[in-house]
Amino acid sequence: MEPKTSAAVCGMGHSMKRKEDPRFIRGKGHYVDDIKLPGMLHMDIVRSPFAHARIKAIHTEKALAIPGVLAVITGETLKAYNLHWMPTLMSDTQMVLPTEKVMYQAQEVAAVIATDRYAAADGVDAVEVEYEPLPVVVDPFKALEPGAPVLRDDKEGKANNHIWHWETGDREATERAFAEADVTVKQDIYIPRIHVASIETCGCVADYDPAMGHLTVYMTTQAPHAIRTVIALVAGHVGLSEERIRVISPDIGGGFGGKVPVYPGYVIAVAASVVIGKPVKWVEDRMENLQADSFARDYHMTAELAAKKDGTMTALRIKTLADHGYADAAANPSKFPAGLFSICTGSYDIKTAFTEMDAAYTNKPPGGVAYRCSFRVTEAVHAIERVTDVLAQELKMDPAELRFKNFIQADQFPYKSALGWQYDSGNYKAALEKAMEKIGYDELRKEQAEKRAKGELMGIGICSFTEIVGAGPSKDFDILGIKMFDSAEIRIHPTGKAIARFGTKSQGQGHETTYAQIVAEELGIPAAHIQVEEGDTDTAPYGLGTYASRSTPTSGAACAVAARKIRDKAKKIAAHLLEVAEEDLEWETGKFFVKGAPQKAKTIQEIAFAAYTNHPPGMEAGLEAVDYYDPPNLTFPFGSYICVVDIDRGTGQVKVRRFLAVDDCGNIINPMIVDGQIHGGLSMGLAPALFEEISYDENGNISGGSFMDYLVPTAMETPNWETDKTVTPCPHHPLGAKGVGESATVGAPPAIVNAVVDALSHLGVRHIEIPMTPERVWNILKEKGVAE
Ligand code: CDP
Repeated sequence: MEPKTSAAVCGMGHSMKRKEDPRFIRGKGHYVDDIKLPGMLHMDIVRSPFAHARIKAIHTEKALAIPGVLAVITGETLKAYNLHWMPTLMSDTQMVLPTEKVMYQAQEVAAVIATDRYAAADGVDAVEVEYEPLPVVVDPFKALEPGAPVLRDDKEGKANNHIWHWETGDREATERAFAEADVTVKQDIYIPRIHVASIETCGCVADYDPAMGHLTVYMTTQAPHAIRTVIALVAGHVGLSEERIRVISPDIGGGFGGKVPVYPGYVIAVAASVVIGKPVKWVEDRMENLQADSFARDYHMTAELAAKKDGTMTALRIKTLADHGYADAAANPSKFPAGLFSICTGSYDIKTAFTEMDAAYTNKPPGGVAYRCSFRVTEAVHAIERVTDVLAQELKMDPAELRFKNFIQADQFPYKSALGWQYDSGNYKAALEKAMEKIGYDELRKEQAEKRAKGELMGIGICSFTEIVGAGPSKDFDILGIKMFDSAEIRIHPTGKAIARFGTKSQGQGHETTYAQIVAEELGIPAAHIQVEEGDTDTAPYGLGTYASRSTPTSGAACAVAARKIRDKAKKIAAHLLEVAEEDLEWETGKFFVKGAPQKAKTIQEIAFAAYTNHPPGMEAGLEAVDYYDPPNLTFPFGSYICVVDIDRGTGQVKVRRFLAVDDCGNIINPMIVDGQIHGGLSMGLAPALFEEISYDENGNISGGSFMDYLVPTAMETPNWETDKTVTPCPHHPLGAKGVGESATVGAPPAIVNAVVDALSHLGVRHIEIPMTPERVWNILKEKGVAE
């Protein structure tokens, strides 16, 4: 920190702050950007124009001369507190602010603290940084070549850009199966870098109260408790111990995994508030959000399938190179470096499989967030669903027929996959049959043949995916050692109304509705009488947050279990009130009644009142319960999607004419919310298939760093989604439910690619990389001599 003068910074100091205090004043809305606290300062960030450069000097004088600018924070400032680096979830390290060199374009270089946003922005423009450009590495394959510049020379003894190698499955058996196979296919598949691009960008208000030694951070986080613990672990040495930290995650305008990581902006704002003793607000703009926040995907995969002549799949092999940017900061709380990628055998009974992966450093932003998917499931599903179609093409088989031939059958569940997962339940055949019947698959194939004869390009694509969601169980998942359970706490008030609090945090998924429904269903209290709260670490029970479609599998389950604990106590109270033995009572939603005498009953409201006024002697007063639920297994939702496309031979434009999604997420709590989740997920699956990509030129300059270049589909580009469902309950979840929030993002892209390739398959096209932009498709049409 470089205060102009200590008086300038501290002049508005603690005593005045206490007078103005109110600890929690919100503005009009409930988003971070709406929060206004008395005396609040604003922070803006200086970012690097270079992708790799040594910092020779940072000149702050001109910035500090601007009225309203109070301080410029650099890496050296933070180094004094040992806060210039921070750990990542993947046991790597990431800069908060650099002291020696920058590693990607748009990296944070310094932060300006000012009395208002405008002064902070002017201050950013006035900070002068001298850089010495260094050789840039953007291609992960080149990054691993001998002689490539070593990017992480901050790590002692690091002599290359290799991060880790990971493999799972049986290498030798897979090699044998490939050697013995009648047919083998091999396909390179690249899933480019994309960004979650949620409507609300990231930001926080860090509010340190020096008088109380207490820090409140309002921030856009999907995991408030985990953040509290991380702050305590990283900054405990400067006095921030966990009982003095409160993290509040107010309304969140879309998370999708992008609001799981800890970004440097949060850390700098906290450090600034602690040093200055005033609230500091930081909210990034759209370009900063796209250019510097954690990316998703960026997997270079080679997928191979071995099969018998009749189409029976015998082995799968996938080799991947993962581009992690300059640090492995993947938001992956699993014990596996590549998350749940080993779900890649998909919905098929493939007895032998092997997958291996290497991760490389490049001059790009770090990250690897699970953008609306469970830690690399999207990549795995893309690989298996694409290579399945490549095999169908090789065998000249209908892709639906090939899938039916290889599906894990309904009576094989629980099913142990070749790569070690125990699938809970499924009926893949039923889902695909339903989809084919509903969309009129046979007629579409006839129409396609007729169109083809006329030179028109129409394609039908299928994706029959298996998801894997709901992290824990704690044996496989933890965040910095904290086991991945989740929680619910329900308290029934004397008048029979309730408050229910959870360790998860909705970002628009409707938890307030669905959790209230669960309590209502279990206890018979009307949903309108149940207040649902999440996101405040001072009040909510400890939890790991919302991502990976884990809320229903974990906190949803905890909610049911906690409600059942309450019902058990309610039964004792009812027996006392009715003067019968517990065994003589029966439950009907909302009341206990005496068996054979239904008029002798006590409602849950009467019981709640008695819990505080007339409970049995020796029993504790009150009616409440908490549950920390560690799921025995993940849940495995699935679906079959069918996409119909027409391709314009004049422009290469792909038009999604129809898209039908048949999903199965076990028992459904709220059908309307589930439908909304599927609609949103499908749009977010359409996006990378046709539009979105963040790429870099050879100097590491970003393209796709603003909404001018990063095309997020709007209502104009989004087709009418058709949805349907099958219901295969989860055998281990108290409500039989599986997660659903991400299924459609995972299942949509391969269905769309398969449809486009299908439209062109008679021309010898076997694969197209995403995004399938008009230019990319038109170049293929031109190459094949069918462009108009
Ligand atoms: O963790 P996240 O909330 O993103 O995902 P989820 O557990 O899949 O839930 C998304 C929304 O769908 C929540 O409001 C759930 O309660 C609801 N849902 C449902 O109604 N029935 C299911 N079987 C699964 C989810």
